[in-house]
Amino acid sequence: MTSTKAPPTKIVRAIERARHALYRIHQRSAPPAASMMELIMGAWISQLISAAAELGVADELANGPATGEDLARRLNVDQDALCRMLRALIGIGVFRHRSDGRYELTALAETLRTDSPVSMAGMARWVGSAQHREHWSHLADAIRTGSAVVPALRGKPIFDYLADEPALAGIFNQAMTGLSESSVTAVVAAYDFSRFATIADIGGGQGRLLAAILASAAHARGVLFDLPEVVAGAPALLRQYGVEDRTRIDPGSFFESAPKGADAYVLKHIIHDWPDDDAVRILQNIRTAARRGTRLLLIEFVIPDHDRNFHGKWVDIEMLVVANARERTAAEYRQLLDTAGFRLTRVVDTVGPLSILEAVAI
Ligand SMILES: C[S@@+](CC[C@H](N)C(=O)[O-])C[C@H]1O[C@@H](n2cnc3c(N)ncnc32)[C@H](O)[C@@H]1O
Repeated sequence: MTSTKAPPTKIVRAIERARHALYRIHQRSAPPAASMMELIMGAWISQLISAAAELGVADELANGPATGEDLARRLNVDQDALCRMLRALIGIGVFRHRSDGRYELTALAETLRTDSPVSMAGMARWVGSAQHREHWSHLADAIRTGSAVVPALRGKPIFDYLADEPALAGIFNQAMTGLSESSVTAVVAAYDFSRFATIADIGGGQGRLLAAILASAAHARGVLFDLPEVVAGAPALLRQYGVEDRTRIDPGSFFESAPKGADAYVLKHIIHDWPDDDAVRILQNIRTAARRGTRLLLIEFVIPDHDRNFHGKWVDIEMLVVANARERTAAEYRQLLDTAGFRLTRVVDTVGPLSILEAVAI
């Protein structure tokens, strides 16, 4: 299980600023065209990582170091092509070539194991899937029109499209669970959930965040609310984390209703999935279900007012391409919350890129 220890936020922010400065030095230490080429080749790096995840290379190397010949035989792939893929990835720190000629995992490669405590395998496969690549290949159109690519290309919104594509939906849900895993420690360390008796996670996927919250709040009960086909996969996960007895699974759509009477409503990576009018509808449905004074906690990448690199600025583009949605500033969240009957009370920073926007039902 993930540890709930997180380093102090101030130290992490200072390290981020230092990394930013080093990155600028790194870029300026090469001719601009060479640095630009490096950026452009980011797509190839991403696709190689995705292919390694799809082929299960890290899972196979988890059994121990292996020669190219052994690995190719066990993975049922072409040995020469596999070794060329590993050669490229080794150069950027994913996998290592030992002096005895065998390949082994590095700390980065460990994250591509499907059973890694924080697995990025699902995310790598989602971003590298043919469908996701196709969506991003239309990015210039999305910038031209300001409209999402997916509805135009697939004839339906992303979550309806995923409902019709079970294999891709499986990869997406695995990606979301991995992402949740990577952020639960930071979220749970930043906020005291133990003061709430009932906590509803709206759009909570298969329950990974809720399980971590309940582990940190021993007397709280949870409600997991998401689409029926998504929560179908939740019981096993809730059992794995020993919180199934304290969790009620409530299938449904947040465009129709929300579970009534919770003391806190958590929405992680939900509001960013939707344009303003849909986001307000979701929030209003929660407001209808909630008592006055109830806490609402939005866990999102809040766009900062600095010009440094920030994870949320990239996810913002994913939101544009996929769903006509966006990452928002704190002022933009305040506005949405006001419209839906909530008042933003504070923004709690976590050690990761996520913030917790705490609001109260008025
Ligand atoms: C980006 S994922 C976030 C999942 C989870 N909160 C997390 O952070 O890992 C968005 C979630 O919204 C759910 N969702 C989409 N449309 C929904 C709807 N109409 N009603 C309820 N949940 C929905 C999806 O099934 C998915 O689990």
